[in-house]
Amino acid sequence: MSNFVSIAIENGVAVVTIDNPPVNALSFHVRKPLYEALTALRDDPAAKAIVIACAGRTFIAGADITEFGKPVEQPELRAIIALLETIAKPTIAAIHGTALGGGLELALGCHFRVAERGAKLGLPEVKLGLLPGGGGTVRLPRLVGAAKALGMIVSGTPISAGEAKAAGLVDAVFDSDLLAEAIRFASEMAAGGGPLIPIRDRNDRLAETDIGAFDRQATDLARTARGLEAPLSCAEAVRNAIALPFDEALAAERALFIKLVAGDQSRAQRHLFFAEREAAKVPVKDLQRRRIARIGIIGAGTMGGGIAMAFANGGFPVTLLETSEEALRHGLATIEKNYAVSVSRGSLTEEAKQQRLGLFKGSTDYADLADCDLIIEAVFEDMAVKKEVFGRLDAVARPGAILATNTSYLDVNEIAASTSRPQDVLGMHFFSPANVMKLLEIVRADKTAPDALATVTDLARRIGKVAVVVGVCHGFVGNRMLSARGAENEALLLEGATPSQVDKAFTDFGWPMGPFQMGDLAGLDIGWRNRKARGQTAVIADTLCEQGRFGQKTGRGWYRYEGGSREPVADPEVEALIRAKATERGIAPRAIDAEEIIERTLYPLVNEGAKIIEERIAARASDIDVVWANGYGFPVGKGGPMFWAGLEGAARIVERLGYWHRQTGRATFEPAPVLRRFAETGRWEAL
Ligand code: 3HC
Ligand code: NAI
Repeated sequence: MSNFVSIAIENGVAVVTIDNPPVNALSFHVRKPLYEALTALRDDPAAKAIVIACAGRTFIAGADITEFGKPVEQPELRAIIALLETIAKPTIAAIHGTALGGGLELALGCHFRVAERGAKLGLPEVKLGLLPGGGGTVRLPRLVGAAKALGMIVSGTPISAGEAKAAGLVDAVFDSDLLAEAIRFASEMAAGGGPLIPIRDRNDRLAETDIGAFDRQATDLARTARGLEAPLSCAEAVRNAIALPFDEALAAERALFIKLVAGDQSRAQRHLFFAEREAAKVPVKDLQRRRIARIGIIGAGTMGGGIAMAFANGGFPVTLLETSEEALRHGLATIEKNYAVSVSRGSLTEEAKQQRLGLFKGSTDYADLADCDLIIEAVFEDMAVKKEVFGRLDAVARPGAILATNTSYLDVNEIAASTSRPQDVLGMHFFSPANVMKLLEIVRADKTAPDALATVTDLARRIGKVAVVVGVCHGFVGNRMLSARGAENEALLLEGATPSQVDKAFTDFGWPMGPFQMGDLAGLDIGWRNRKARGQTAVIADTLCEQGRFGQKTGRGWYRYEGGSREPVADPEVEALIRAKATERGIAPRAIDAEEIIERTLYPLVNEGAKIIEERIAARASDIDVVWANGYGFPVGKGGPMFWAGLEGAARIVERLGYWHRQTGRATFEPAPVLRRFAETGRWEAL
């Protein structure tokens, strides 16, 4: 009946199949024929029961996100669900792949849900700055209870078919032949003639709610929302489901949805959703990917160990190479300890731990890397050492193996040139802890072959990373912009701000922590060592390090940490040190407000991003946003620095940077031409 929705009636069971690749989103061209199909089947005596199923790799993954922000075309999803609830014969959703957002909400309009064992079900709208807008907040609690629904809706994390069965969200789980099983299930339900009660009329689970416990759970969630509106609206909507009659709660959910979908936060989060998918695309079609079966990793330190775990977690066998047996033992022991922590926390089974550890092979002999298809170097950040390693790799790696460096700053072209095969060399800049952090900057050197790049971008996805392709420059996209963001930190202190004031301006903005807290967490000695190696100084941070104040690990840094606590406490000694250094330089303290802190840290961050676009180090402004949202904690509700620049007002940023440039003469403040152009056209583009 349509290219997107078809009907087949078999033994009295009508199967409505949705076929809207890639993820069967509920676009207008699906909703319309789906509504018509359900209307026809409702009144068709040949159909004793109706199964809704999907072709392709997944059940409906939600509303069509590209339609948000445009006029709504009828029938809306809510109308389809309302229609489903008027059908007096059994309706069954047959779920494989993922039933997400509007997809799960549609399934909640059915009398029954059956799922394949590997299916996942969830309401992830909160990750797009939204709440479920198709009745999910009102129907889900009626099936699984308010507490469980609140957890699912506020976290947005899908649950497995098994968990869904245990929670009452699905009625049956099948290991195979989903459609045949669903048809059999439908026939039984039609024959059984039991009562068919739409979820809207089921109130017993809601009546069990412990309101006090629910409100405490909601308050805890609100505390972690960090300025995001959507999690709060989600909690409010589930609360309404308990407190209000069904239709009133449904209307309230709709009102909240309309408000959120039009707001900046959801726009920002939707921007990031598409930006992440765009960033991973290599703009050369029909490229053969290289075969990647075994991974080699050189260096089993902080990064090498984490990278090795990331690949083992993705099911890849890993050869880990160190300089000595002792270093190797230490590296492998750390990996084992990390897995043991996951087991003790319940996030990994003992069996899975053993299975992952079985994927590691340790070695101190480069010849053992000969069967590796991708070899990642994670040794000391020193060009001479890296060149030596790549020289040895060149001698042993098989032809066509991809050779990658995890360098944070060094010139990948120079590293590539130390081999006879620069076309196979690129950067894979992981973030610490590499088994946890999602971001991966893939550094494309001048001679990197497109198929090597495409292979690594695909591989990144397979191990759950968000990949962004970047060009060669000091610090690539992330660390280079981080330097620009931090360039004024000490000046702000000398002129009168305190570390806590600066950090508070950051957390109020939505960052998980400010730069001084971050420094204490990472260890101040790292920056100190880097500065010394580069002949640079930082008047206050250097003194703190000379006093042995390295941050959390020594109990003192920019802050004090008492009794092993991670809670930073402002330290009058540090404030006295800052004032003494200011006096030495003849700087009189003045009041510095949050606005000035933002102008002098985040405006240079945007400005550096503009330079990165100009130099074509990043292909798109949205790639920069993906780096910052996934690697550095830029608040997702602001969409990343380049998206936020539009919200903040580019003209204002140009004007204020100009002001600070005149005040200080510092180059970080000089508005970049690409930023000026953005202020005029609203588009980020290299000139
Ligand atoms: N709408 C429009 N396009 C979508 C989409 C959606 N809901 N979900 C995915 N896509 C697109 C992607 O942009 C991508 O397009 P591209 O190939 O042009 O880049 C393509 O589908 C494939 O997506 P992925 O690359 O993400 O494929 P994966 O197989 O890795 O993941 C997925 C599949 C788990 C379904 C993942 O795409 C996903 O999480 N999608 C979003 C799910 C979601 O948030 N649903 C809720 C939507 S809001 C809603 O339903 C509101 C309702 O309450 C009213
Ligand atoms: P680390 O000091 O913890 O580990 C380095 C390891 O390499 C040590 O175990 C050492 O024994 C080993 N090693 C040194 N020379 C070797 C050689 N020739 N052959 C084999 N092994 C050798 O250092 P870390 O922090 O893991 O850094 C490694 C690389 O990753 C550096 O280039 C660093 O810039 C980069 N990086 C570090 C990040 C971090 O947060 N620590 C983040 C991203 C990148």
